[in-house]
This record gives sequence, structure tokens and C-alpha cells, in this order.
Amino acid sequence: MQLLERLFDNCALYRHPVIADDRGSLVALEGERNLPFAIARVYYLFGGAAGADRGFHAHRQLQQWAVCVSGACTIVVDDGRERREVRMDSADKGLLIGNMLWREMRDFTPGAVLMVLASAPYDEADYIRDYDTFLAEARK
Ligand code: TYD
Repeated sequence: MQLLERLFDNCALYRHPVIADDRGSLVALEGERNLPFAIARVYYLFGGAAGADRGFHAHRQLQQWAVCVSGACTIVVDDGRERREVRMDSADKGLLIGNMLWREMRDFTPGAVLMVLASAPYDEADYIRDYDTFLAEARK
């Protein structure tokens, strides 16, 4: 993994190693080998309605690795003090999003697919969906 940009201590944009030949390109992501956590869950967002934004939550414990495997989208990350954003526009880029970071996803291109690798199974109790609650917990 090549570090492209550090947004916060626990949030950074990386370039994946790409195995390319004349047939095309391949990226392999392996839990605890080239990712900093074991992968417990994979989900992906696709078929987004034009102009629809997603996210608007933080996770108390969950770590995630986001890859826009097709098309592009913008991910906004907020640590409760500062807001940073990154354009995910290539399948060779991965964004590590650690815990206690508010995220918003927007400006999906038509047909974009955002894949997320996560460190734990889905658990609604891990979500903070209210921004003021997030700020109060993040600033503790
Ligand atoms: P939500 O987290 O609101 O999506 P986003 O943050 O991308 O806008 O999830 C939408 C719905 O899907 C919500 O009812 C919870 C459900 N869901 C699962 O059942 N499993 C999952 O792994 C995820 C991410 C969501």
C-alpha cells in the first residue's frame, strides 16, 4: 500500500498494489496482510439515485476500507473538529476510515459502485446517526 494522503490519524487514502498485464488489472485486499484489520463483512452501494447522498453517521468501533470499484464518488470525513474530503475516482484507491469519524458520501457518478470492507458484522448499536451526539462523543 502506498500512502497517498493522511486525512486524520486513523483515516488515510492509499494506492493499492495493482497486478497488471495485457489482460487488465487486478487488486487483492487481504485482511491483516495489506489491510490493518481482519475483514468480517463486505458490502457495496450501487444503483444510486442521481444526487442521493449517503452515510451521515459515525461508528463507535468499526473500521472500514472503502473502494470505488467503478465510477467515482466523494467521501467527506469529519473528526468532530475538522472536515476533509477525498474524491474516490479509481479502483486502485482505498480509503481507511477508522472509528469515531463522521462520514458522508456524495456526488456519485451514474453507475458508481462503492465497495466497503468492514472489521465487524453489521451492528446498529455501533452507529452514531445523530451529528450532535457524534460531536459530544468525539470531543470527550
Ligand atoms: P445505512 O448504514 O443507512 O447506509 P449508508 O450509510 O450507506 O447510507 O444502511 C442502509 C440500510 O441497510 C439500513 O437499514 C441498515 C442496512 N444495512 C445492513 O443491514 N447491513 C449492512 O452491512 C449495512 C451497511 C447496512
